[in-house]
Amino acid sequence: MTTHDAGPGSTTIDTAPGVISVTREELPPLPDDIISSPDAGHIDPRKWFVAPELPFEIEIGCGKGTFVLNESQERTDANFLGFEWEYEFFSYGCDRLRRANVKNVRMLHADATEFIRWRCPSEIVRTIHLYFSDPWPKVRHHKRRVVQDSFLRQCHRILLPGGELRIVTDHMDYWAWMVEHFARVNEKAGSKAIFQTREFAPPASAGEGELVGTNFERKYRREGRPFNSIVLRKPNVGEPVIGPSA
Ligand SMILES: C[S@@+](CC[C@H](N)C(=O)[O-])C[C@H]1O[C@@H](n2cnc3c(N)ncnc32)[C@H](O)[C@@H]1O
Repeated sequence: MTTHDAGPGSTTIDTAPGVISVTREELPPLPDDIISSPDAGHIDPRKWFVAPELPFEIEIGCGKGTFVLNESQERTDANFLGFEWEYEFFSYGCDRLRRANVKNVRMLHADATEFIRWRCPSEIVRTIHLYFSDPWPKVRHHKRRVVQDSFLRQCHRILLPGGELRIVTDHMDYWAWMVEHFARVNEKAGSKAIFQTREFAPPASAGEGELVGTNFERKYRREGRPFNSIVLRKPNVGEPVIGPSA
């Protein structure tokens, strides 16, 4: 897994690693016994924040960081870990966050799905945000889509009881793929269901008439594209997944 590393010739915009971007010291390489002991690489990312006791949220694929920047300023009572694997976007986002002097955001230059699978302990995340995830339209690339059966199960593992996976997409084919995958874990799965389905409500930082207020939403809204959205909620302890009214 890659972490922030400004090699020769690369552009370093965020000049303060350790303030916004998570450093190699904070996230050392996976230990050798990871195969025989899958939890051996777990590390508590809440410790990377100034106020580690605050509720912890993740954004997968921040792009230029608009959502995480605006939302973290609206809700200073939560910590946000943003993932962006494209280095130029990652450093652009880090730079914006550092200039805004936010204290409740850290950014990781890494594959979020790998982090969730190998590094993240169970039941520590209140909310996972996945907005305008890359659709990978070619069939041979569908395996690169973030939403997969294993991803949904890993999200369930790391979410706190009552925690939410929040998703918005503009892409019709990817949405159809997601709906198929959700059906194996939500109410449609009957006794195998692990998530409740909830309607998506805009977050605190969304503007008038916006679903979430990311760069991609703003661009696609100008083009008149329709959007789909959903919240998958992990039930509280003792709460049935499928309520009496379902
Ligand atoms: C289509 S863009 C959307 C960006 C932003 N969420 C928005 O709505 O404006 C998707 C972004 O997610 C990043 N990304 C995709 N899969 C990722 C992963 N597994 N881990 C980290 N970043 C990822 C891509 O590099 C890209 O910047």
